[in-house]
Amino acid sequence: MSTTTLNRKDGDQPFNKDPAKSFTLPARFYTDLQVYDLEKHAIFYNSWWYAGHVSQVQNTGDYLTTEIHEQNVFVVRDREGELRAFYNVCQHRGHELVSGNGHANLIVCPYHAWSYDLDGQLKGARNTENMEGFKKCDFALKPVQVNVFCGLVMVNLDPSAKPLTEQAPGLEAEIRQYCPSVDDLVFAQRDTYEVPCNWKVMIDNFLECYHCHTAHRDFVDLVDMESYRSKINGIYSSHVSDAVKSTDNKAYKFEKGDVDFGYAGWFLWPNLTIWAYPGEANLSVLQMNPAGVEQTIEFQDWFAKTETPSPQLKDAMDYQKDVLQPEDIGLCVSVQKGLKSQGYNQGRFVVDGERSELSEHAVHHFQRLVADALGAELG
Ligand code: FES
Ligand SMILES: [Fe+2]
Repeated sequence: MSTTTLNRKDGDQPFNKDPAKSFTLPARFYTDLQVYDLEKHAIFYNSWWYAGHVSQVQNTGDYLTTEIHEQNVFVVRDREGELRAFYNVCQHRGHELVSGNGHANLIVCPYHAWSYDLDGQLKGARNTENMEGFKKCDFALKPVQVNVFCGLVMVNLDPSAKPLTEQAPGLEAEIRQYCPSVDDLVFAQRDTYEVPCNWKVMIDNFLECYHCHTAHRDFVDLVDMESYRSKINGIYSSHVSDAVKSTDNKAYKFEKGDVDFGYAGWFLWPNLTIWAYPGEANLSVLQMNPAGVEQTIEFQDWFAKTETPSPQLKDAMDYQKDVLQPEDIGLCVSVQKGLKSQGYNQGRFVVDGERSELSEHAVHHFQRLVADALGAELG
C-alpha cells in the first residue's frame, strides 16, 4: 500500500522526538482502517501479549485462550508440567480447537474429532490410517512462544522475540517492589468493557494524570497527586505516587498494605497496563484489545490472595468498575469523536522540565513507539 497514510502529509505538524517540541500523532492514526491493519504485523504479531494468569493453568491439561488481533491462541499445561502455547486452529480444516478456559486430557477438535496431545502432536485422525503418505507428524499444532512474568502468562507470535525480562529490564523488580507477594496471588475476577474508540486512545489516557484533577475527583483524594510521577524506560513506563497521609478518602477505605504507596501503574508495550492499588495485596491488568479501528475491548483481570477477594479489595475493585473506568471511558469516547472532527488533526503534548504530575511525556513516549513500529515518517 502507499505509505501516504503513515508519513507526514500537507497540513500535518511535525511529530518530534522531543516531547516539548512535538505535536501529537495525526488523527488518522486513530481512525484509518489501513493504519489499524498495519498495526497487526507491525505491533501485535511481534510483541508480548497478556493471555491470562498462571493460577488459571496450574495443572496438567488446564488451558486458557486469548485472541491477539484476530489470531486465536491457547495456552496449556503439558504432561511435563511446562506451559505451551499454540495457534488455536485445527490442522485439518481450520476449526477452532478450544474456547474459554478449561481442562482437557486431549485437545479434541469439535468438527471431525481430530485429537492432539498436550504437546501439540496429532494423536487421532479418523480414517487416515489407510491414506497413502499421510503422516500424523506433519500435522502438529503450530507453536507460539509463552512465558510467565510476575504471574502473568505472556505469549508472543514472533518465534524470535526475546523474553520480556530482556525486553523490559527492571519492570519485574518494580512490580515486586510494589507488590511483594505477587507470587501468592491468584486470579479473582475479570471485568470486561466494550468501548467505541481506538485502542490507542485508551492507552494515551492511561499514560497521563493531567486529566486526573478534572476527571477523577476521588482518585486525586486517594493518592498524593503532587508526588505522582511517570518514568519512561524502554518499552514500558511507570506511574507511581506516594500515599496520602490519611486512608480516609472518597475512593475506598483501606488499611495500609505491605508497601506504603498511593498507586502504582505500569504501561507495557503495546497494550497492557498493570495496576497496584493501596491496601490489601493486589495486582490487576487492564488490557486494551483492538476489536475494530474504533472499537476496543478492555479486560481488567484482578489477582488477589484468594479467589474471592476480601471486602476491602472488593471495595477497590468496585471503585475501579463503577467510578474510575466510567470516567475514563467517557473521556475516551469523546476523544474518538473529536479525532473524526474536521476541526481537529493534532494537538500539543503538555510537558514540563520536571516531568511533574501534570506532564504528558509518557503519552509522547507511547506515540513515538507506535510511529517507530509502523515506520512512519512524521518529522
Ligand atoms: S477441522 Fe478439526 S477435525 Fe476437521
Ligand atoms: Fe483517567
